[in-house]
Amino acid sequence: MATLWLYGRGRAAMAEKLVEEKKQQQLSYKGRARPPGIVLLNPKPSKGLTSKILDCAENLIVKLTSRLSSHSPRPPLHYLSGNFGPVSAETPPVNDLPVRGHLPDCLNGEFMRVGPNPRFVPIAGYHWFDGDGMVHGLRIKNGKATYVSRFVKTSKLMQEEFFGCAKYGKIGDLKGVFGLLVVLLQMLRASQKALDVSYGFGTGNTALVYHHGKLLALQELDKPYVLKVLEDGDLLTLGIMDYEKRLAHPFTAHPKVDPVTGEMFTFGCSLTPPYVTYRVISKDGFMHDPVPITIPAPILMHDFAITDRYAIFMDLPFYFRPMAMVKENKLPYVFDPMKKARFGVLPRYAKNEHEIRWFELPSCFIFHNANAWEEGDEVVLITGRCEDLDLEMFNGPVKEEVIPRSFRCELYEMRFNLTTGLASQKKLSESVVNFPSINETYTGRKQRYVYGALLDGAAKVDGIAKFDLHAEPVAGKEKVEVGGNVKGIFKLGPGKFGSEAVFVPRGHDVASEEDDGYLIFLVHDANTGKSSVYVADAKTMSADPVAVVDLPNRVPYGFHGLFLTEEQLREQANI
Ligand SMILES: [Fe+2]
Repeated sequence: MATLWLYGRGRAAMAEKLVEEKKQQQLSYKGRARPPGIVLLNPKPSKGLTSKILDCAENLIVKLTSRLSSHSPRPPLHYLSGNFGPVSAETPPVNDLPVRGHLPDCLNGEFMRVGPNPRFVPIAGYHWFDGDGMVHGLRIKNGKATYVSRFVKTSKLMQEEFFGCAKYGKIGDLKGVFGLLVVLLQMLRASQKALDVSYGFGTGNTALVYHHGKLLALQELDKPYVLKVLEDGDLLTLGIMDYEKRLAHPFTAHPKVDPVTGEMFTFGCSLTPPYVTYRVISKDGFMHDPVPITIPAPILMHDFAITDRYAIFMDLPFYFRPMAMVKENKLPYVFDPMKKARFGVLPRYAKNEHEIRWFELPSCFIFHNANAWEEGDEVVLITGRCEDLDLEMFNGPVKEEVIPRSFRCELYEMRFNLTTGLASQKKLSESVVNFPSINETYTGRKQRYVYGALLDGAAKVDGIAKFDLHAEPVAGKEKVEVGGNVKGIFKLGPGKFGSEAVFVPRGHDVASEEDDGYLIFLVHDANTGKSSVYVADAKTMSADPVAVVDLPNRVPYGFHGLFLTEEQLREQANI
């Protein structure tokens, strides 16, 4: 019996090994051509004496500065606590998960959501935007579900795994003189080859996009990482996408794919003029020449928008000011309420910026747009607007209330009149509405429904609201409630918190109604410590979910999601 058991275990181990070897073959491309545009990673950091001396210097700086700090011992950090905290390991595919309800056929494919999950304990500070990207995937096929989680295997992560500890500088460290020392230390590690920065320093932790047969993990400070979904739903990181060396600048986490033309439109922000660079990537994956978008100063532009004929850029007054970091002991991005919000409308195939039209509106910050389109002489932008932004809210020790009043994002309609040059705006919701999503077959075209995540004061999603852009908002409300333009709210209930909802249409024919489909999103139950994937009916917004898939592991709160259809899974399998 024992022999049989051992034999069985041996066969299972061998089968596991074969699967692993197969996956590694797909990763390494040995003996076959590298897919065009993908740079395979081979960072070569050094563990030599200089590296060790710099480690000692870092430890000394951290010890000295923490003694000077008023918080000693250091309180727990908000975004490393509770379900913001990371999971310690990846999860290989786990099949046949319990499904309550029924997974509709249109959900055959893979739902994914990416978020920050620091692989190693941060040396000093930690900002929510810092963590290594981890993708949580749910492969759905014929009513059955398989869960997997994998890190985006970035150059940063590979090198930190080589050293067995955190090594890279982080946003959470960039405050005061300590921040300056962290920057200098990072520069020394790079110049002395203690870290190999030739493959960038991205984490791929923010968003996912699918274009030209490739699944990309994005973070706005770096180039995209190419992922591949395997037959069993597992995820591999293939390398960095540089579009045959045509991409030499950062790439936004929120490019736009035109569902009609198949093109992808994107941009990147830099710390040197022109500060923003716009790019068009054709349906067949060719990245066209850069178009500079010159703005007065370096900013954080997290999103943009497209219409049928235009691209819309947002020059919002959230400036990179490193001196504020040192002098005012602040994070180096600072909101300036005295400056106007500027919106640039550029013909989307422009070869230069001569034709850009800039419009001004009252000062604000915007993380995410829902959509944009043209109406007569006007360009309409549906967006999540807040009065200001302080990145400190995503940083620092545990706190009850992390979203200040001023950052209570509201849904807005903005209009830019190309004939008169005038801009206007109209509030569509109370706060806090973020992560607006739509039926993406309407990207760039006039549409009606927006699904927004409702956030509580502690930056956690406690419901999903459906907004009808054809209806008027009800004035005088203090929070988002059903009525007026709010057609339904999927409330998660006490102790349950969700994430961005991805809309999946029931059918793919144009005759389908815009809201005929499902919202799919992650939910964490703080009462039980367990996580699930919820499927809600987008048309009815019924309180009863269509399906709930219980996951074998906790999934930390994170950022953006994506759904890949069976057809897209088949297409990307050819890489
Ligand atoms: Fe985002």
